[in-house]
Amino acid sequence: MANTIISPSFLSADFSNLKKDIDIINQSDADWFHLDIMDGRFVPNISFGFPVIKAIKKYAKKPLDVHLMIVEPEKYINEFKNAGANILTVHFEACSHLHRTIQYIKSAGMQAGVSLNPHTPVSFLEDIIFDLDLVLIMSVNPGFGGQKFIENTYSKIEKLKNLITDKNSKAIIEVDGGVDLLNISKLKKAGAVAFVAGSSIFNSGDILKIISEMKSI
Ligand code: DX5
Ligand code: ZN
Repeated sequence: MANTIISPSFLSADFSNLKKDIDIINQSDADWFHLDIMDGRFVPNISFGFPVIKAIKKYAKKPLDVHLMIVEPEKYINEFKNAGANILTVHFEACSHLHRTIQYIKSAGMQAGVSLNPHTPVSFLEDIIFDLDLVLIMSVNPGFGGQKFIENTYSKIEKLKNLITDKNSKAIIEVDGGVDLLNISKLKKAGAVAFVAGSSIFNSGDILKIISEMKSI
């Protein structure tokens, strides 16, 4: 059984004092930095771009797990690599030529992930799963932090786990949206390995403590 990977989402960090939150996550038991890139087109919100990723990269001591909620992500793969991304995840719904985009990401030297919106069935990954390092299951509709977890996620993760086994893929399952201390253990049982959490970590009052509790589940 793979260890639990915790990837705090900086969307809920304090943007007026990012360095403070970067230092806390460096000190914590978290594994990755989850950075949400939104373009106001694929999702109805705009977050931040390359200058902020580069600023975070300067101080982050853990891999950058970059989640692209943008149209035409294939146009910016080298820029995300240059900004410091280690894992680059694109949305299935945003890619007309997903296979080609995944190959670009890998040839740029990053791990390649695909994210599915809540309405997209895992069976759509049947012919690409073998090429993926990671699948990011959205357990909310992407665009905002602090939304309510969608319960159908558990069965979706179970189906994905079966697909990964059937196709002999090495992809790991990451889940994003409404993840907290209460649902991690059930998500883990369903087959998820990596957990993105924004509001439940940064609004907790004790970031180090909640991360170590999440990590030990
Ligand atoms: C939502 C983002 C998430 C978000 C999660 O579109 O992909 O990473 O920050 O926030 P919480 O954990 O608060 O639901
Ligand atoms: Zn995300």
